[in-house]
Amino acid sequence: MCGIVGYIGPKEKKEILLDGLQELEYRGYDSAGIAIIQGEKLNSFKAVGKLKNLREKTKDYTSKGFGISIGHTRWATHGKPTELNAHPHLGAYSYVVHNGIIENYQELKKELQQEGVTFLSQTDTETIVHLFEKYHNEGFEPFEAFKKTVNRLEGAYATLLITEAAPDTIFFAKNGSPMLIGFDGEEVYFASSDTPIIGKANEVYYLEDGEYGYVQNGKVHLFDSHGEKVFHTQPLIADKAMAQKEGYRFFMEKEIYEQSRVMGETMMGRVLEEEIVLDELDADFFKGINTIKICACGTSYHSALTAAYLFERLAKIRCDVEIASEFRYKEPLLTKDTLFVTISQSGETADTLEALKMAKRAGLKSLSICNVDNSSIVRESDTAILTRAGIEKGVASTKAFATQTMVLWMLALYVGQVKQTLPKEVLKAEIDAMLHTPKALVVTDELHARLHRLSKRYLHGHGFFFIGRDIFYPLALEGALKLKEISYLHAEGYPAGEMKHGPIALADAELFTIALMPKTMHYDKIKSNVEELSARDATICAISPLPFELADDFVQTHYSSHPMVEFFEMMVVTQLLALEISVRLGNDVDMPRNLAKSVTVE
Ligand code: G6P
Repeated sequence: MCGIVGYIGPKEKKEILLDGLQELEYRGYDSAGIAIIQGEKLNSFKAVGKLKNLREKTKDYTSKGFGISIGHTRWATHGKPTELNAHPHLGAYSYVVHNGIIENYQELKKELQQEGVTFLSQTDTETIVHLFEKYHNEGFEPFEAFKKTVNRLEGAYATLLITEAAPDTIFFAKNGSPMLIGFDGEEVYFASSDTPIIGKANEVYYLEDGEYGYVQNGKVHLFDSHGEKVFHTQPLIADKAMAQKEGYRFFMEKEIYEQSRVMGETMMGRVLEEEIVLDELDADFFKGINTIKICACGTSYHSALTAAYLFERLAKIRCDVEIASEFRYKEPLLTKDTLFVTISQSGETADTLEALKMAKRAGLKSLSICNVDNSSIVRESDTAILTRAGIEKGVASTKAFATQTMVLWMLALYVGQVKQTLPKEVLKAEIDAMLHTPKALVVTDELHARLHRLSKRYLHGHGFFFIGRDIFYPLALEGALKLKEISYLHAEGYPAGEMKHGPIALADAELFTIALMPKTMHYDKIKSNVEELSARDATICAISPLPFELADDFVQTHYSSHPMVEFFEMMVVTQLLALEISVRLGNDVDMPRNLAKSVTVE
């Protein structure tokens, strides 16, 4: 949610900022901007819409030679996506970029306005730059003025500030929103995540909440509430090749195709012939644990819902799932026999992170399942199991969901193993099924062509219902979410058995039902639910290994003997269907309107 970059050094700053923002564009793409101070000269550019507009606007500008620079790509929270609301925000002689939400901005803004400050934008961010200049004008040195400013901010922020009053310095502060500092000799980079600095910096420091400071002459001065502190960088290791499209039309498409391969990575060293090994967990990790509570948002929440069936059925351990934004304000009753699990592809989702902090304050043991090592959620948890999906760039999550669900399935088996609630032969059968999932995830040309053909019939209508039972209900929720995220058509996921308690009133030929009809799980039950809809003229697209005579459209999956294998195969079908509908509608598949990949505001 919003991306920040910064650079101080002798290289061409415009290119470094634009390339960095390109890597972060998936986090927000309503508008973008850069500001550069070189010598005494301050330049800034902003453009509404995608980054290419900013590139176009800055094409004749160069910025070689030593200087300081900041950039931002925005996902609007306060104020429309206009040029005035785009970052960097200007005071009289300083610029600021910010990611997060300043919760007390109205109070600060009122105070500043009463002192005669004129605000140009509707953003919360602009208060930072005016507050800084107010303190500086009162006679404080730039760093003191910045420190006083940061002390006044409430809420979440990662912010960079540059000023003509200190043209060789970048000021930074972090609380709640992610930011890191990259190092290459005397050159220093800032970014919201490590992708913009891969290949540029070789050492990195991930800022902690409450840290702030400044960088000058290649040296970073870092402070927290106890004063200046010594910090240790770590080597930056990442493979940028993982984040290229490699011939696919869209990142999402590439990521759907990759699922079969990355699932192998997820299982490697963890799924053995007769047992699940999770080196991340101590032998007595589950000692004293009687309940599992999972908190997550969006797609990750659907993965959690799937897992709840598996934990109770396979491991015989109670499992509750909650949407993190609901959990935070419900005054939950937390007991110490509960393992608190958070699931997040980005590891930065504000609500999930805050839920985790609450659970920790209540003394619960915590485990996160995440795709990004060193992310805030991973660092905050007692232990983490990484999903190993590789960088996911499509805003609509696909391989992250698949690998999260796999890790949770493994974890359910692992708990059954350590608590001895899972008979050996069942464990063996589950592992056999697991080893079959990479095959179930392979996208064949035939399948893709079939969904491409089908998609043309689903571009209108007054809505979609994805229906399923048991673990296929969360999959229905996920299928509907994928479709609405990238097609902008209304879609809902529903438990098939609930349709007659209301939604069936909507049934007519323009109501599209995507029915998940696995052979291995309640086939006859869901068949009757679909028949009820068909009798009321709803258009049925059935996904099943068994031919279904009432289906208007039919996507045949393979025979399998295990529900999870059917689950993963049907997951691919729903992902490809959403993709093809979105393409036909001419939408931006990888950066759908109004969405962001990493939601760092609540
Ligand atoms: C955003 C993303 C979704 C994601 C959700 C939760 O809405 O667009 O794809 O499922 O956030 O994110 P997390 O990183 O915590 O899984």
